[in-house]
Amino acid sequence: EAKERENQFTLTEFANKWLQAQLWETEEGKQIGYSYFKERGFTKETMEKFHLGYSPKEWSAFTQYALDKGYTFEALQSVGLTVGNKDRPVDRFRERVIFPIQSFSGRTLGFGGRILGNNKKTAKYLNSPENEIYHKSKILYGIFQAKQAILREDECILVEGYTDVISLHQAGVENVVSSSGTALTPEQIRLVKRLTNNLTLVYDGDAAGIKASFRGIDLILEQELNVRVVVLAEGEDPDSFARAHKEEEIQEYFKTRATDFIRFKVGILKEDAGDDPVRNSNMIQSVVDSIALIPNLIQRELYIRDASSILGIGEEVLFRQLQIKLAEKD
Ligand code: CTP
Ligand code: MN
Ligand code: MN
Ligand code: MN
Ligand code: MN
Repeated sequence: EAKERENQFTLTEFANKWLQAQLWETEEGKQIGYSYFKERGFTKETMEKFHLGYSPKEWSAFTQYALDKGYTFEALQSVGLTVGNKDRPVDRFRERVIFPIQSFSGRTLGFGGRILGNNKKTAKYLNSPENEIYHKSKILYGIFQAKQAILREDECILVEGYTDVISLHQAGVENVVSSSGTALTPEQIRLVKRLTNNLTLVYDGDAAGIKASFRGIDLILEQELNVRVVVLAEGEDPDSFARAHKEEEIQEYFKTRATDFIRFKVGILKEDAGDDPVRNSNMIQSVVDSIALIPNLIQRELYIRDASSILGIGEEVLFRQLQIKLAEKD
């Protein structure tokens, strides 16, 4: 078991070295991979810091190289680097730029690979499949590069994607991690909790980002962390935002726009609710439902007081509604 995992780590590290070498040392890698990252505004230093790589067009360049070095087809398949069958093996990440995914302590767990350009026919990103060392639900992309800054700032910024982490980092905002497009999980929140109790969500400025923020809030409250939300302009994501602004502007925007979860929910839901009494009561219920998830009684009480003043509804009413919700859950 443990030996097996060690072998898998050896293989992912080996692959990471090779994929980086393709980016920096081959003509194809330089012309296609390096240019791609450069177009996106990444500096050499940034590419190195995040161990970015390139996987060439050829069907099985990596697999052949690894087989020659003595790795078995089964081993390559088990970490998801190779697909197809033994007679016709294919590199999973061929013709993609590579974002290695590192653990808390900096080991290579797996990879994300992005297509070049915006061809809609294949998935934009391919990720390593679940295996003994890569558990999507337990990983936060960028945690290795961010952990010192998270401790220093006593805050962790959570974004949706790989490039959001990298661009913010390059702009000087280093306390950033990503759940890589998947819904946030309790395990990921517990990973953050090792470093700070303060989480700020900065998701994409689109309907999906708002929806993900709603889900994220509830999970974070359940784990007894403080959660705040920054809403970006429609069509903007942290990557595009970071590229268009200076560090001070980004910090200022995050600082002044970050709202507690109650104001965030009310701000979003109020727009739809207008003066409609049913929709307004649904909005209030949604805030109460989130508060009901908080295990700590004192925290709950404090949030009820906040909600009361923000919503202009008596604390007593909110408390009674909270009791009803809690009774439903039992
Ligand atoms: N993602 C994924 N598979 C996809 C699409 C997205 O795993 N087919 C994950 C990636 O980790 C991605 C994140 O979800 O970084 C956010 O998705 P999206 O906002 O669509 O991509 P961006 O990160 O903005 O990527 P880019 O700027 O390169 O288009
Ligand atoms: Mn390094
Ligand atoms: Mn998106
Ligand atoms: Mn995005
Ligand atoms: Mn993007």
